[in-house]
Amino acid sequence: MNNAIAFTYVVAAVLFILGIKLLGSPKTARLGNLLAAAGMLAALIATVPLLGSYDVSPFSQERTLKYVLIVVGILIGLAVGAVGAYSVKMTAMPQMVALFNGVGGGAAALVATLEFMHHSSTPEGITHFFAVTMLSAVLIGSVSFSGSLIAFAKLQGYLDKPVTFSGQHIVNGALLAVIAGLCIYLVGFPTNAGLFVFLFVVSLVLGGLMVMPIGGADMPVVISLLNSFTGLAVAADGFTIDNVAMIVAGTLVGSSGTLLTLLMCKAMNRPVTNVLFGAFGSGGKGGKGGNGGAGDLGGKTVKPIQADEAALLLGYAQQVVIVPGYGMAVAQAQHQVRELADELGKRGVEVRFAIHPVAGRMPGHMNVLLAEANVPYEQLCEMDAINPTMDRVDVCLVIGANDVVNPAAHEEKSSPIYGMPIIEADRAKTVIVLKRSMAKGFAGIENHLFYKDNTRMLFGDAKTSLQTLIAQLKAS
Ligand code: TAP
Repeated sequence: MNNAIAFTYVVAAVLFILGIKLLGSPKTARLGNLLAAAGMLAALIATVPLLGSYDVSPFSQERTLKYVLIVVGILIGLAVGAVGAYSVKMTAMPQMVALFNGVGGGAAALVATLEFMHHSSTPEGITHFFAVTMLSAVLIGSVSFSGSLIAFAKLQGYLDKPVTFSGQHIVNGALLAVIAGLCIYLVGFPTNAGLFVFLFVVSLVLGGLMVMPIGGADMPVVISLLNSFTGLAVAADGFTIDNVAMIVAGTLVGSSGTLLTLLMCKAMNRPVTNVLFGAFGSGGKGGKGGNGGAGDLGGKTVKPIQADEAALLLGYAQQVVIVPGYGMAVAQAQHQVRELADELGKRGVEVRFAIHPVAGRMPGHMNVLLAEANVPYEQLCEMDAINPTMDRVDVCLVIGANDVVNPAAHEEKSSPIYGMPIIEADRAKTVIVLKRSMAKGFAGIENHLFYKDNTRMLFGDAKTSLQTLIAQLKAS
């Protein structure tokens, strides 16, 4: 590798790290994304001259063909990526990430397979070290590929129930044993390309089977984990083909994906093993519990409120906290939420947004939607910052959020969400909850908040309810 290429790789690595750092805040996230993309472009351009370096003549037919293939590949990738990114709906973002991640894992597995096939037949053969890097890339990359495709199918609604069958863990265990045996054999005797391809296929099957039983709504956590797998597979490829940029980028993706997975699990108060093996949340959607106003928790009933009364409470409040949740995303009500906040702001009401780290269905879901509606970043408060102030809040407006405000997390030891950090909406003087019915949230459990003395339920689609509230406020 010459100095210019090495220098470009260092610049790319710095841009990747800066990009990840800037993604930490909604204010700087766009710039972070751009910087990381610029780093990737720089690394790509720097890699092109390396590709023909094995050929004797720089103008050989073989080298020309390689360049043509590279350009065709880049053009296809650009077209698919651009069309996908422009046309995808914000609520469909997790499945697009799953698809793109899967393709990355599949590519990493293919690179390792081709390298193995190429070198296993040469006189120099493959050293044990390179056999390990190739095997890691093919194993992790193909698990990530097939797992991500299943995750995509679940999020897209093609597979709406966790697929479980008796003896599933035994089948997965047997596949793992086959994979372990193949890996040990191939490290010792890295000459059998047929067995390597067989390993590729078995790993694909394992990836699919591992993700099949997991509940659809747990997919963002799974995708984040598979994302880290893809990163590790790419890093292993980097060792195989001696490419520093791939090692650095792969390691960064691997570590950030792992950290994100652990943070999400912590915010849900669930161990990773529970996400992977628990088939949790599969009953969440089926939890319809009433007819729009007839909830019942041990004899307690909920108290509905009409829009005009809710508007009055909001209009006369000094401090309002808005807690958005998955329902806001479903209703696509983010613009109305901002309009309501603006309207209240004009009346001198102090409005803040309380953002729970796992509100919605993907990391940063609420931040993305509110940013799209131009809600000022200064109004967005993290859970830990807002909770100590909740006692002073006059009205807490819960918009399509359920689990993330459920006091059962503090009050009921037997609850599956017991111990999960929540936004303590119940401590506000008045709570108004906007949702369509008494249906349960993702966790599939009753929400104690709805039955509290200070809570009123404004039933209806969040967007429609907000439009009515705004109209009432404007008219008053
Ligand atoms: P949820 O607990 O899922 O509740 C969403 C609520 O929105 C539902 O109760 C639903 O009630 C309501 N809703 C749906 N459509 C609506 C509409 N058009 N208008 C008004 N309301 C509507 O949401 P949450 O509080 O945001 O919690 C997120 C959950 O997902 C947590 O359990 C979390 O652990 C889990 N999770 C999150 C992530 C990430 S990374 N964010 C990843 C995996 C799992 P109705 O049907 O009655 O309207």
